[in-house]
Amino acid sequence: MDKKQLEQKVAEYNKLLSEYGYAYYVLDQPVVSDNVYDQMLHELIAIEEANPELIYPDSPTQRVGGEVLKGFNKIEHRYPMLSLGNAFNERDLRDFDARVRASVGDYFSYMCELKIDGLAISLIYQDGLLQTGATRGNGTIGEDITENLKTVHSVPLRLNKAISIEARGECYMPKKSFANLNKLREENGEELFANPRNAAAGSLRQLDPKIAASRNLATFIYALGGNGEDYDLTSHSETLDFMDKLGFQTNHERQKCSTIEDVLAYIEEWTAKRSELAYEIDGIVIKVDRFDHQQELGFTAKAPKWSIAYKFPAEEVVTKVLDVDLTVGRTGVVTPTAILEPVLVAGTTVQRATLHNEDVIREKDIRIGDFVIIRKAGDIIPEVKEVMLDQRPEGLEPFKMPTNCPACDSELVRLEEEVALRCVNPQCFAQIAEGISHFVSRNAMNIDGLGERVVEQLLREELIKDVSDLYTLNKEDVLAMDRMGEKSVQNLLDAIEASKSNSLERLLFGLGIRHVGSKAAKILAERFETMDSLANAEKFELLNIDGLGEKIADSILAYFNKQEVRDLIERLRGLNVNLYYTGKKVNTEDIDSVFNGKVIVLTGKLSQLKRQEAQAKIEELGGKVTGSVSKKTDLVIAGEEAGSKLAKAEQLGVEVWDEARLVEELSK
Ligand code: IVH
Repeated sequence: MDKKQLEQKVAEYNKLLSEYGYAYYVLDQPVVSDNVYDQMLHELIAIEEANPELIYPDSPTQRVGGEVLKGFNKIEHRYPMLSLGNAFNERDLRDFDARVRASVGDYFSYMCELKIDGLAISLIYQDGLLQTGATRGNGTIGEDITENLKTVHSVPLRLNKAISIEARGECYMPKKSFANLNKLREENGEELFANPRNAAAGSLRQLDPKIAASRNLATFIYALGGNGEDYDLTSHSETLDFMDKLGFQTNHERQKCSTIEDVLAYIEEWTAKRSELAYEIDGIVIKVDRFDHQQELGFTAKAPKWSIAYKFPAEEVVTKVLDVDLTVGRTGVVTPTAILEPVLVAGTTVQRATLHNEDVIREKDIRIGDFVIIRKAGDIIPEVKEVMLDQRPEGLEPFKMPTNCPACDSELVRLEEEVALRCVNPQCFAQIAEGISHFVSRNAMNIDGLGERVVEQLLREELIKDVSDLYTLNKEDVLAMDRMGEKSVQNLLDAIEASKSNSLERLLFGLGIRHVGSKAAKILAERFETMDSLANAEKFELLNIDGLGEKIADSILAYFNKQEVRDLIERLRGLNVNLYYTGKKVNTEDIDSVFNGKVIVLTGKLSQLKRQEAQAKIEELGGKVTGSVSKKTDLVIAGEEAGSKLAKAEQLGVEVWDEARLVEELSK
């Protein structure tokens, strides 16, 4: 074969293989057998190896993943990648519809689409050839993951038209690929991915594109970056058809709706059918179709006003109760937790669910060995909804709470009017450990590096007996412990040293006086200014303070009446721990913010903000951040794995936001 013929052959193979790939991966309608495809691909690989000058950037051989990268470059998006406002119920959707109609009148249509649970990507094409692929990043700057995205078969390397365009969409991992991947990882003793979204994100963040290539990722394109009118398009629906023609994979379950009633019907349909899909969806995206209508509606700082994302409510699944774990908290309360056979609920793997207390277990009649329905309250914390009684295996015994403390074996008591069982042994190891963990926690003394494991070890090796001993720790002692390196020990000692100058409210909260949460601690510190004046306060002085009730007053009096408490405070003083209020008092009257005057609880893990940062920002805007949920709480911000506080909020009907909503409101 001469050079010319070879070139022709390569061009033909490139074209054919790309067509076959499109039919297989995008249309899901293979036109040739796997054998034919593989043979042709191998022939092409052989030709390319012998003639490297014939390797074109859009050759299907480029999808196998090339060299390992050193890192990802940053890519600044040409247009910001925005997010969407959320709707959680019919009311939110009708409100959205009313806003749209107020702006564009009654004659317009919506496009409804599935909200794919993956991660947003941007693909840039020049003259029809893929140039770069990026993650959303912070919306302005993303990471260059071109090499990984090239391995994704539904990402065209060359478009059907030689145009320059930016395509935006979602990269995801199909449910089946996810299951296979985790199975493989389990066999290899590797850590499992919690859900398909994490697996997709993890795959795209690999520096070795061969790994991404092995992961069976896919994409759906749902938008064009920039101005659709540049391509003579007048609406979102036309854009999606156009994207289809260019060779992208778009999602075909989309539907045009002319009224909000039709939108609601579409949502109902997909709420019922979502489990049949080959990929995870977490909601429905609704977009005003015509561009001129979109322009009339415009944008907020974060999101278009012409679109909204409806989020599905909690998903319910069945699993088995393997055991009940009992933990002893700082105040001696023994809390039961169900240990579950791991299941995927609403996108994350669940293996524990709080059972709250003995009464809940009895009411629901939960027994070890039972099959139970698990649901995620507010899509965040898992709880046992009910037992599947008709599937109960024979011979299961009703669950009984122990009579003795699982940590120290002393007898448990049920205090009057309380549902909880308590260990009242002040020497109980678990309580002391929890108390110290509380003392060092973020909202208290904020000593980083003292995880539960380290606290327990310090106690077991008798390097500490109570919180004051933290301030006498020396380097040699701590270094001698398991798994403590020079650097982490120094960081820990520095953090302990730094905590000495904390303002009084942190210490007060950290001491764990019953009923004194971080809010009460702050009020007390502001009012009394020194530990000594608080310790010597009369009951009437405490009762005179707004926001403090009799329960707190009595608890404070009882606390400071104890000789061991007085001794502890003297030891802290002797160790130069600050006993004074050094904070600032702010006048919040004229702050214009949704947080102003609200009592807010932060719970669970926050991923975008540090907890303290979130608290500081809320407080700056006049909000009061408290530690526990009560009738007085106005709002609960629930991060990941939020627990009892979220449950309490839901029980009391307190408004709950997720972190995204918090971030959005803070940025207004
Ligand atoms: S449209 C202006 N359509 O959901 C924002 N987004 O909360 C354009 N998503 O970041 C987004 N499926 O990652 C749109 N059919 C769909 C979607 C979708 C999933 C994701 C996307 C976005 C997030 C919005």
